[in-house]
Amino acid sequence: MSDGAPLHVDLVVVPDAEAAALAAASLLVEVAARGGAIVLAGGSTPRRAYELAAAAHDDWKDADLWFGDDRCVPADDTWSNQLLVREALLERVGVPPTVHPIATERPAAEAAAAYDAQLRGVPLALALLGLGSDGHTASLFPNASALDVTDRLAVAAAPGLAPFVERVTLTIPALAAAEHVVFLAVGEDKALPARRAFGEPPSAATPASLVRSARGQTTAILDIAAASLLR
Ligand code: 6PG
Repeated sequence: MSDGAPLHVDLVVVPDAEAAALAAASLLVEVAARGGAIVLAGGSTPRRAYELAAAAHDDWKDADLWFGDDRCVPADDTWSNQLLVREALLERVGVPPTVHPIATERPAAEAAAAYDAQLRGVPLALALLGLGSDGHTASLFPNASALDVTDRLAVAAAPGLAPFVERVTLTIPALAAAEHVVFLAVGEDKALPARRAFGEPPSAATPASLVRSARGQTTAILDIAAASLLR
């Protein structure tokens, strides 16, 4: 955030989770088709969007996939965001993209430093982000020291919510560098964090409120339930 003023967020409110997944999938496919670098979200919400994106577009050879965060668990662990992307997207496309996983088998600080170095200078076309019930995004948790980092693109992060394992997360400057920042949130449990993230002044208590594209567009794709507390 430059001066704390909330940069504009385009709200895209759709009827249900499937429509939200479809909207996110179309943005993923648009970047994949023209060849661009995409930061992917973890958690559970984006799974359907990845499945729909894989079904809609088969040749991802010109796309580069990065991770907004990952948990420091083995890549075949059910908590792994790499596993989510492998199952929901990579195993479903004919021509895979270039994937840049976070080295989650290494200590978090080492993995973060390595990812920081890999990501430097990469122009990000799209950053897809989720929204936690506590207002976190990626692994940027409320009031965490990671929110104040301005000189690194990736840092180690202590877990603020389950799974309580160490994480590596992109920082606010890293995410803000994306041409298009897209939040995807569905369900009534995301209504309050969505209001705090997209309808109230930015606050470290709601990290998603601090993440906006610094040079392009920020969109929040919400179903009616998640948007229910936003005017
Ligand atoms: C993670 C995600 C995280 C996620 C939110 C929402 O690694 O956990 O990057 O930021 O997007 O926690 O998760 P759900 O989609 O499961 O609600």
